[in-house]
Amino acid sequence: MARLVKLLSGLVLFGISIALMVAADLGVPAWDVLHQGLSRWTGLSFGWVVNLVGALVLLAWIPLRVRPGIGTLCNILLVGMVADTALRVLPHIDGTTPRLGVLLAAIALNALATGLYIGADLGPGPRDGLMTGLAARGVSLRTARTAIEVAVLAAGWLLGGTVGIGTLVYSAVIGPLAQPAIRHFTRAAPALPQAAPPPPTVRPCHERASMMRLHIISCSTRTTSAGRPLARWIAELAAAQHAFEPTLIDLGEVALPFLDEPGLPSDGHYVHQQTKDWSALIDGADAFVFVMPMYNGGFTAPLKNAIDTLYREWQDKPVGLISYSTGSSGGAPAVEMIRPVLARVGLRPAAHTLSIPAIEDHLDEAGRLRATAGLADQVQAVLAGIARPAAVPPEREPAGA
Ligand SMILES: Cc1cc2nc3c(=O)[nH]c(=O)nc-3n(C[C@H](O)[C@H](O)[C@H](O)COP(=O)(O)O)c2cc1C
Repeated sequence: MARLVKLLSGLVLFGISIALMVAADLGVPAWDVLHQGLSRWTGLSFGWVVNLVGALVLLAWIPLRVRPGIGTLCNILLVGMVADTALRVLPHIDGTTPRLGVLLAAIALNALATGLYIGADLGPGPRDGLMTGLAARGVSLRTARTAIEVAVLAAGWLLGGTVGIGTLVYSAVIGPLAQPAIRHFTRAAPALPQAAPPPPTVRPCHERASMMRLHIISCSTRTTSAGRPLARWIAELAAAQHAFEPTLIDLGEVALPFLDEPGLPSDGHYVHQQTKDWSALIDGADAFVFVMPMYNGGFTAPLKNAIDTLYREWQDKPVGLISYSTGSSGGAPAVEMIRPVLARVGLRPAAHTLSIPAIEDHLDEAGRLRATAGLADQVQAVLAGIARPAAVPPEREPAGA
């Protein structure tokens, strides 16, 4: 109920903020330039065009296989209608200073409204879903957003929409303004007390609802783990990519007992609270990155135990494999060793893996990761493979084989 209130109030305020920007007449956001242009060209009201373009854009979701939510439908129905109503009652604004004031107030209101309707988490707006849908199919979100915004801006301008200082100010400040609003209004996910807190996640404007929930699992349980700073850094890189909503999980803090459930994991009936919590945590992920050290030529026992404890929760989810070790192999043998295990539970390894030799050389005196551009590129390649996992899952043998 609270989410529905957030959604509806967010969409109403969003519509009002757009109307205020139109009334200020100093330039509107890219999509609204297109809406204005189409409105002039077709003779339909601005609000009707907002609604109709939203509905048309929704059609493009079909090949992208993005699912609309109730928020998507409400967005299509409400924003344009509210904008039209507001435009009818708003007085004409004279003078540059009042117009500038209205523009800035409208942008601030727009950021607040974005925080409310994205924070409700009931489905992205049609235009947002187009961008995140493309991102999920492997196009970088920045490329998708830039290409779409430039195209709609150009088309809108050619059709007579208002491009101006407002268009520029909006694109420059809406991200930084909307992020804290989204964070403030996003409902807190039920977190495991054992799970490490998520890294500082940068939530971009409009995108959260269809981001891939990526759980980055640090697979060492040692208090002095060299992989922990590495895993944290990978989570930050994932957050900056905007296609992912990363959560950092430290197996040392999760501290799962060795499998002690009476039933088989494949039955999914758990009696111990810790197993239920682990199940909920893994169930809540769309994809994983295993940050795995190599111990004596293989992957760690806690990781095997963490995998074995569950079954259904892992199935058909992509996983990126990043190994590390003191030696020159960077733990590549551990990656090869884990592949048959992943296949048994239906995890789909991303095509690109990364093995980091001499891990201690990547840490400074304080134990922090010394990030390099080369390493960042390699991690990005693994992340890209997760966003674009192999279409056909690897052959899976029956659980009893
Ligand atoms: C039990 C154990 C076995 C190890 N075996 C290997 C090994 O076979 N090859 C290697 O290059 N490094 C090996 N190392 C060194 C680890 O790669 C290195 O200490 C790494 O930092 C361990 O990851 P962690 O600090 O996150 O636990 C081993 C370390 C431990 C604790």
